[in-house]
Amino acid sequence: MRIDDAEQTLIRVSFQRLKCRPEALSLDFYERLFAAAPHLRRLFGEDMLRQAHKLSALLVHVVETCDRLETLAGPLHDLGRFHAGKGVEGRHYAVVRAALLDALEDNVTGWTAAHAAAWGRVYDIAATAMLHGAASGGIEGTDPAPRSATA
Ligand code: HEM
Repeated sequence: MRIDDAEQTLIRVSFQRLKCRPEALSLDFYERLFAAAPHLRRLFGEDMLRQAHKLSALLVHVVETCDRLETLAGPLHDLGRFHAGKGVEGRHYAVVRAALLDALEDNVTGWTAAHAAAWGRVYDIAATAMLHGAASGGIEGTDPAPRSATA
């Protein structure tokens, strides 16, 4: 669960170059997600503003923690189990990935393929940890597969 120094810089710099607040980025992301996959809307509650606040708080935290992503393993496992409980399936993660990268591309000044690759790596690390948590089901720390085996 690591990204290298160059990738960390790309993540931090791109977030500093956001043209909008993280909450607006999150709302833009949800708009794109529901346009691309309207059937996913039913998984969410009514209050997308509240949801956007939660997602943006997580994004800020991930950016701040991008030099030590391994510390997020436990919380991401829990988040993955929470998602499975909401009806989120493994195949949904690719749709969300595409919508997030599109939203970033349109809202970050000077976005390049290198930024996309770095964000793609972070997303894949997070998604892998979440799916691992979802698959392990039970109480944190009792899953049989080694977590370090992923990403
Ligand atoms: C790396 C991938 C993802 C991250 C980091 C992420 C992050 C989050 C966060 C922080 C929350 C709020 C949790 C809370 O209420 O405590 C959330 C909720 C949720 N997410 Fe995700 N998510 C990811 C992938 C997905 C995917 C693939 C879907 C599929 C559509 C999805 C659907 C949902 C739903 C349905 C909720 C609950 C909404 C509600 O309660 O109204 N997420 N997500």
